[in-house]
Amino acid sequence: MRLLDDEALQRSSVVANNAMNRERGLDGVNSYARDLGFHPLDRLRSRLAEHGAAAWLDLCCGQGRALAQAARHTPDGLELVGVDLVDHFDPQATGVDGLTLVTASVSQWQPDRTFDLITCVHGLHYVGDKLGVLARALTWLSPGGVFAAHLDLASIRLADGTPAAQPVRRLLREAGVAYDARRRIVTRTGPTVLDLPLEYAGADDRAGPNYTGQPAVDSYYRPLRTGTRPDPVPPPRRAVAVDDRGVRVEHEGTVFEVEWNDVHRASVSRLVVETADIDHVELTVDLVYGHYLTVLDSDVGFAAAVAEFARRSGRPAPDLSRLRPGHDDIELWQQDR
Ligand SMILES: C[S@@+](CC[C@H](N)C(=O)[O-])C[C@H]1O[C@@H](n2cnc3c(N)ncnc32)[C@H](O)[C@@H]1O
Repeated sequence: MRLLDDEALQRSSVVANNAMNRERGLDGVNSYARDLGFHPLDRLRSRLAEHGAAAWLDLCCGQGRALAQAARHTPDGLELVGVDLVDHFDPQATGVDGLTLVTASVSQWQPDRTFDLITCVHGLHYVGDKLGVLARALTWLSPGGVFAAHLDLASIRLADGTPAAQPVRRLLREAGVAYDARRRIVTRTGPTVLDLPLEYAGADDRAGPNYTGQPAVDSYYRPLRTGTRPDPVPPPRRAVAVDDRGVRVEHEGTVFEVEWNDVHRASVSRLVVETADIDHVELTVDLVYGHYLTVLDSDVGFAAAVAEFARRSGRPAPDLSRLRPGHDDIELWQQDR
């Protein structure tokens, strides 16, 4: 596999693609509010009201239209910064009070302040070290600040080519970073240090179109056996039950009950992370509002729950002993759209 470094990647026609949608506005059909699932100004207004000032950083900001519209719609006190590799900024976004547009790669650029909102709308698809940018940006949040970025986990692979979606999703969750599999958005509230046992190896610009339909970049990582992460503590056992009311998970004395209306999808996968001594089958229940529940094959009621999801969709229960690690999950059930 031919892997590109950042310099070669930035010269690639996939990254310099003129057909990319760089024109999203703040709200409306082609917009940040639509693709993020929340209105950026809703996140900033409460902060403005409380502190009299708020700051929004938009990584891979494209033409900077969303930022320019935010600058026009909000009172003084809002500081806006947009960063993009290419200086195709909308003329209406340049020279706007409170808005700074920077031409730089998000892989190298470093701010000199923290932000109450950090977004990256369909930008990481073209970045080499996606997890590195994520880790750096999470340290730039102010306390209580919100981070939201599109991230297609299918574009993250281990250096031997194995898909790394499942291990990375699990590592993110353990680090307190949420992943909405439906919208393919990674979110976090408040700054954190993300110390994943993965080392960036390079990028592949020949991966083809991703879920957006545009050619995108796959990112390759080498698993690290050493790191600063503490040894994992085995999680206490959970209990799961699936019945006519919905899904019920009990964990350390707390009960999560989800009605069927709120269940989006159920799937099983095998997760192997050698560096963390993890090898198990897990049942993931994605909820319509983006959160998800996970139970392991060692948890109480696991096999019955898997069988019940399969029964409800009229599918045979999968043979879990044949699940191979690092491959796509097996869908058990999905809500009718
Ligand atoms: C699909 S566009 C999205 C633009 C904008 N967020 C929007 O939604 O309208 C992706 C953007 O990422 C930018 N980009 C790609 N690689 C980058 C990098 N390493 N650093 C900064 N920007 C990058 C591209 O120039 C492009 O403007």
